[in-house]
Amino acid sequence: MRRHLHKGGAICILLAGIATLPLVANAEVSRGQILASTCFACHGTDGKSPGTIPAIAGYPPEVLERQLKGFRDGSRAATVMDRHAKGYTDEEIKLLSEYLGTLK
Ligand code: HEC
Repeated sequence: MRRHLHKGGAICILLAGIATLPLVANAEVSRGQILASTCFACHGTDGKSPGTIPAIAGYPPEVLERQLKGFRDGSRAATVMDRHAKGYTDEEIKLLSEYLGTLK
């Protein structure tokens, strides 16, 4: 009886290991997507803002990049985006703009 329980335990651990494999694969989210997720608090969960805040979904990536860099260097007037854009490097702006460009 004891031996039987032991065997069952080993199989359980093995199955648990196999079951977690697909979860690891699904967890692959692009860096651009993670960076862009901070934008959705204000710009709507799909980048289509519900209120007066402009939508950011479906812009060509180059346009978003130019706008964000303009906010960052102060050449584009802003209330909050100037402060927000300062937190991103050129590479991060590129990655999140590419991701946002894929949203329709
Ligand atoms: C705290 C709220 C807030 C967050 C967070 C935020 N935005 Fe904004 N965004 C605004 C507001 C408000 C404007 C209008 C300009 C202004 O007043 O600063 C704006 C304007 C913009 C514009 C100009 C759009 C146009 O057509 O003129 C772009 C592009 C933009 N945001 C991109 C982003 C991206 C990308 C992120 C995430 C990295 C982000 N925003 C995060 C509030 C926010």
